[in-house]
Amino acid sequence: MPAKPAVLFVCLGNICRSPLAEAAFRAAADAAGLAATIDSAGTGDWHAGQPPDRRAIATARAHGIDIAGYRARQVCRDDFIRFTHVLAADHDNLAALARIAPLGDGAALSLMLDLVPGRHGEALADPYWGGSEEFAKTWSDVSAVAAALTTLLSAHC
Ligand code: 4NP
Repeated sequence: MPAKPAVLFVCLGNICRSPLAEAAFRAAADAAGLAATIDSAGTGDWHAGQPPDRRAIATARAHGIDIAGYRARQVCRDDFIRFTHVLAADHDNLAALARIAPLGDGAALSLMLDLVPGRHGEALADPYWGGSEEFAKTWSDVSAVAAALTTLLSAHC
């Protein structure tokens, strides 16, 4: 198990929700002085090697964060060894991750919103087929996840 927290955010394409979750948590961890390894990935490989969706880039930019250099990749079994926490955007991704997770004491696997008080079991809605309102909602949700995760991990350091 890695010594410092290592968090992997996972959605389907790794171009909308999980890069925004990665960006929000990088900012929150930085602001709190929390040292953590942070990354994101997709359960699918269709967008591997590509930058985030332009609407996700614009959403992060509106909050002063540049994610244009992020590149999508597909999650793999080794991620459960390299990371302490693997956080899924929704139930489909959670099920796909559970299928590849090694048995035993690898990363803790849960939904991202499980960490937010009052939102246990909720999926992070997919903004891909939506517009800027959906992306703003995604940003609001991943910011709540980032804040809750920062509190949780700071308490353990
Ligand atoms: P993400 O969104 O899983 O939040 O990155 C999607 C990205 C791509 C597709 C669906 C959702 N797609 O169908 O290509």
